Amino acid sequence: MRALKLATSWLVGALLVLLVAAYAVFTLNQIDEAPLSDAADLPASGEVVARGAYLARIGDCASCHTRAGGLPYAGGRAIETPFGAVYASNLTPDPATGLGRWSADEFWRALHNGRSRDGRLLYPAFPYPDYTHVTRGDADAIFAYLRTLDPVRAQTPAAALRFPYDTQAALAVWRALYFRPASWAEQPRESPEWNRGAYLVQGLGHCAACHTPRDALGGPRRGVPLTGGVVPGDPWWAPSLVSAGQAGVANWPLPEVVALLTTGVTAHAGVSGPMAEVVFASLQYLNADDARAMAVYLRSLPAEPEPTREARPAPAPVLERGQQIYADRCAQCHGDEGEGKAGAFPALAGNRAVRMSETLNLIQMVLHGGYQPATAGHPRPYGMPPFRQSLSEADVAAVLSYVRDAWGNGAGRVETMDVHRARERPGS
Ligand code: HEC
Ligand code: HEC
Ligand code: HEC
Repeated sequence: MRALKLATSWLVGALLVLLVAAYAVFTLNQIDEAPLSDAADLPASGEVVARGAYLARIGDCASCHTRAGGLPYAGGRAIETPFGAVYASNLTPDPATGLGRWSADEFWRALHNGRSRDGRLLYPAFPYPDYTHVTRGDADAIFAYLRTLDPVRAQTPAAALRFPYDTQAALAVWRALYFRPASWAEQPRESPEWNRGAYLVQGLGHCAACHTPRDALGGPRRGVPLTGGVVPGDPWWAPSLVSAGQAGVANWPLPEVVALLTTGVTAHAGVSGPMAEVVFASLQYLNADDARAMAVYLRSLPAEPEPTREARPAPAPVLERGQQIYADRCAQCHGDEGEGKAGAFPALAGNRAVRMSETLNLIQMVLHGGYQPATAGHPRPYGMPPFRQSLSEADVAAVLSYVRDAWGNGAGRVETMDVHRARERPGS
C-alpha cells in the first residue's frame, strides 16, 4: 500500500514537472517576437504582386493549400504525418475562413515563426522550419499576391492527430527541441549566385522538408541536412543530395542540373513520384537566373560515395524468373539490355536510381507506375504502367532483383518482404 502511494505521488510529481516544463517552453516560445502593428497595409504595386505570384510557385504553396478538385489556395488538403493528418489552411482572402482579416505582420509571423493569427503554434507539416529563412520583402510580396485571389469561403478542417501530438504543449516542446526562427544571412565568401541558390534551396524550395532524415518525433536529425529522408504519407525515399550515388549532382555539368530541375529529365536521370510533382508544380517555373543559381548551389554540396553495403544477388532461380518477367513486361520500353530509349524511356543499365541501396522507389514505380512531369521543356512525357494488379509481390521482387543485378548494375536483391511492406503501408 505504502509502495503504491509512493509510486503515485512520484508519478504525480513527475507529471507536474513535465507540465511546468512544457508551460515554460510554451512561454519561451513567445518572447522572440517583435510586437505586431495594426497599421493598415498599403496596397501593393502590380510588380510586387507578380513577384509574389512567382515566389508562391517556387514555394509550392498551392500544392498543399489546394485539395483535390478544390479551388486553388482554398485549403482543405490533408497533409499526412507519422502522427496523423494536418489540413492545409484556406489562404484566400475570405474574412471568415481565410486570410481576409490578416495583416502583413501576421502573415510574416506565420511564415517566419510558425504562429497563426490568434497566436496558436502551427504544426510543422507546414514547412515553416524552412520558410523561416524567407526574407520579409519576399513574404510581403507573397501576401500581396494572395490578397488578389478571389475569396473562397471554405472552413479548414481541424487537424486529426493522435494524443499527445494534438496539444499546444507538445508543439511547444517540439519547437524547443527543433525550431529557431532564422534570419537569412549571406555567406560573404561565396558568390551572389551561390547565395541566391542557397536561399532558394533552404528557404522557399523547402527541399529539406523531404530530403533530410527525421527522428522518431519527426524532427530533423541534427548535423545531417539533405542526407535523405522518407516522404511521409506517400512513402518514397527522397535520396541524399550530398551523395554521388543517390541524388547528389556535384559531378554533373551545370546545364544538366538546370535541365533536371526545370524539365524533370536528362539523358541519365528522370524525376518520379513526389519529385515529379515538385518539378511539375514548382521548379519548372524557375526563371533562368534562379534555376542556374539553384544548380550552382546544389553542385557545391559534397559528393560523398554511397555507403557500400554488401550486394547480395538473389539465388539463380529467382534471377531467371526475373529475367523472364523483364523480357515479357519491361523490355519493350526499357530495352533488351536495359538501354532505354533517349527522350522516352529511362535506361535501367547504369542508372543510379536503380542501383541505390534504398529500393523503396523502385518498388513504388513498378507497383504504381508513373509519369514524368509535363514541362515546357519536355511537354509530352511517356508513362510507365502500374503492375500492382498483374504481378505478385514475389514477381515484383524477382524482376527488380534481376534489373539490379543485370548489365553490370551489381546491386543487391529486393526481398519479397520489402514489396509486401511497401504495399501494406497506408496510402499505397
Ligand atoms: C507541405 C505542405 C505545405 C506547403 C508546401 C505550404 N503549406 Fe502552408 N500550411 C500547411 C499546413 C498543413 C498548414 C496548417 C498548419 C496548422 O494548422 O497548424 C499550413 C498553414 C499555413 C498558414 C497559417 C494559416 C492559418 O490560418 O493559421 C499560412 C499563412 C501558410 N500555411 C502559408 C503558406 C505559404 C505562403 C506557402 C508557400 C510559400 C505554404 N503555406 C506552403 C501546409 C503547407
Ligand atoms: C515532396 C517531397 C520533396 C521535395 C519538397 C523535394 N524533393 Fe527532391 N526528391 C524527392 C523524392 C521522393 C525523390 C526520389 C524520386 C526521384 O528520383 O525523382 C527526389 C529526387 C530528387 C533528385 C534526384 C533526381 C534524379 O532523378 O536523380 C534531386 C536532384 C532532387 N530531388 C532535388 C530536390 C531539390 C533541389 C528540392 C528543393 C527545391 C527538392 N528535391 C524538393 C522528394 C522531394
Ligand atoms: C510502356 C512503357 C514501359 C513499360 C512496359 C515499363 N516501363 Fe518502366 N518506365 C517507363 C517510363 C516512361 C518511366 C519514367 C516514368 C517516371 O519517371 O515517372 C519508367 C521508369 C521506370 C523506373 C524508374 C527509373 C528511374 O530512373 O527512376 C524503373 C525502375 C522501371 N521503370 C522499371 C520497369 C520494370 C521493372 C518494368 C517491367 C515490370 C517496366 N519498367 C515496364 C516506361 C515503361
